Amino acid sequence: MTATADISAAQSAREEELIQTVVESFSNAPDDRLRTVMQALVRHLHAFIRDVRLTEEEWNSAIAFLTACGHITDDRRQEFILLSDVLGASMQVVAVNNEAYANATEATVFGPFFDQDAPLVENGADIAFGAAGEPCWVEGTVTDTEGNPIAGARIEVWEADEDGFYDIQYSDDRKAARARLFSDENGGYRFWGLTPTPYPIPYDGPVGKMLEAVGRSPMRASHLHFMVTAPEKRTLVTHIFVRGDELLERDAVFGVKESLIKDFVSHDADEATPDGRDLDGHTWSSARFDIVLAPADV
Ligand code: BEZ
Ligand code: FE
Repeated sequence: MTATADISAAQSAREEELIQTVVESFSNAPDDRLRTVMQALVRHLHAFIRDVRLTEEEWNSAIAFLTACGHITDDRRQEFILLSDVLGASMQVVAVNNEAYANATEATVFGPFFDQDAPLVENGADIAFGAAGEPCWVEGTVTDTEGNPIAGARIEVWEADEDGFYDIQYSDDRKAARARLFSDENGGYRFWGLTPTPYPIPYDGPVGKMLEAVGRSPMRASHLHFMVTAPEKRTLVTHIFVRGDELLERDAVFGVKESLIKDFVSHDADEATPDGRDLDGHTWSSARFDIVLAPADV
């Protein structure tokens, strides 16, 4: 394969002239931002094509791959989010848009399994709603970066069951292992969830085939999702991860951040639970996650 460095000056000039022509075709776009984004997209796309000297066969495979992503995508399955995630693009967008601020909790990837109609629960509720898994007591506070409690913060939580599936991956419209709750007057929150377990991102489609072709695993490190919103605060989309999980080093979507790794303490069945709940002889775990929200305008 010819490297771009090896092509003749005349060939290089032809390729560059095409880029110029295409970039200029966007120059009358009335929206400045759209013009900037489209022109940059063209420059980077052409740079990629030239860099690897992409063959026509490879370009046709890329089109076929994207077409397959479209065909498998529906209300429940979003192959393009998976693609963005496994390419690290989702985490790069998170990084660009959530600059570290003081001691604010770090953000991570959103993923495709959020449901905006999660059941509303009181603090202390069991959000498993029958989903399989070991009960896990999760508690913490929501504060601003000065340590002031934030009462009434909206906290959305969601997670996979111990079989590795989110409720929306089942075809029976169940709502399980997800909920919406609000921090109390002291900024505190607490609920019973499930001890997070590792699971693969859906790999029965084109993204899974691509991962297999490049020798990458679809497994995600065990985690519990949070989205936290409060007036005048930057919305936080994040997860907490389980300290000791062997997948922390090779999460399929690059979502792990050191500050988000938490101790999930294992408890014997005969140990008293924080709220006196009788777990019928089951072991359980507990984790603490104190959430710090950045101001909205940083
Ligand atoms: C998730 O954590 O739910 C997820 C994130 C990225 C891709 C697939 C699933
Ligand atoms: Fe997840």
